[in-house]
Amino acid sequence: MTKARIAVVGAGLMGHGIAQVFALAGHEVAIHDPVHASLTSVKTRIVANLRDLGDDIAAVERVTPRASLADAVREADFVVEAALEDLPLKQKLFGEIEAAARPDAILASNTSVIPITAIMQNLRERTRALGTHWWNPPYLVPLVEVIGTEWTSAAAIDFTMTLHQAVEKTPVHVKKDVPGFVGNRLQHALWREAISLVEHGICDAETVDTVIKASFGRRLAVLGPLENADLVGTDLTLAIHKTVLPAIESSSTPSPYLEQLVAANKLGMKTGAGFRAWSTEQQAALRMRVLNHLKQARQNDA
Ligand SMILES: NC(=O)c1ccc[n+]([C@@H]2O[C@H](COP(=O)([O-])OP(=O)(O)OC[C@H]3O[C@@H](n4cnc5c(N)ncnc54)[C@H](O)[C@@H]3O)[C@@H](O)[C@H]2O)c1
Repeated sequence: MTKARIAVVGAGLMGHGIAQVFALAGHEVAIHDPVHASLTSVKTRIVANLRDLGDDIAAVERVTPRASLADAVREADFVVEAALEDLPLKQKLFGEIEAAARPDAILASNTSVIPITAIMQNLRERTRALGTHWWNPPYLVPLVEVIGTEWTSAAAIDFTMTLHQAVEKTPVHVKKDVPGFVGNRLQHALWREAISLVEHGICDAETVDTVIKASFGRRLAVLGPLENADLVGTDLTLAIHKTVLPAIESSSTPSPYLEQLVAANKLGMKTGAGFRAWSTEQQAALRMRVLNHLKQARQNDA
């Protein structure tokens, strides 16, 4: 693919990493954030990541911070928004982006779970609007879900799939714009059951995590659940579901146990405790373990 001009709106955790991926692949990237500290630190943060990964530090020269949103998006072929997870803010931003961007630019949101239809509904030209859902950190987790709405053109989906393939991501096409798309629906179906097991005293939080990490979690990166069902047989899968499905959590509202943790200010690592207590050292060790695992996986893929 020829080089595209990329604009990234929001220079936080996701935005700076997305900018890094496009720049490393040779694309020119303009990035905007209204918070001065976010914008002025973006190149430093990208250089630190590139250095840590052993990637070409010169890639950062292709990243241009822009204090004005209009200046960032004006010449872009592809705009991706990674601002806060707030529907009114995203709707307002896409109004401003559409007013300043070229009429043929593709406009994407990196929302985690908000339907793209809700974000893009007020645009004048909705055929070029879609979702691109990356995973954290964008430069280490391969998947990008490309989500179309009922208005999105096939050409916009094709362009976006090709663009992300060319920067060595793993784009998948999500054909219906449902809350949580595919990845977060699957992830949170598992989290709902994990919380329920603790809530009902079947095991403690640490045990839930140990069970997953020491069993099917080991295989998940190379064996998806439907591959696994075919491996063991759909007949066995049916027999298991007849016994297990009536027993597992099916609530359509958040767990009262989770509500109580939040009400008690047990917000997880940021307050020192959530499902479990976390010392500063334990938090650092966990973050390092995840980062090293993802770096190793990237090396294995190379
Ligand atoms: N963190 C994750 O693991 C993850 C994964 C996938 C998707 N997402 C989604 O990506 C988006 C960004 O998440 P994040 O984790 O990078 O958040 P973040 O808080 O790290 O970054 C958000 C950035 O948006 C900026 N911002 C605020 N108002 C803005 C405006 N009007 N215009 C442009 N930028 C503005 C903030 O200054 C901040 O730098 C959210 O929609 C989030 O749900 C997050």
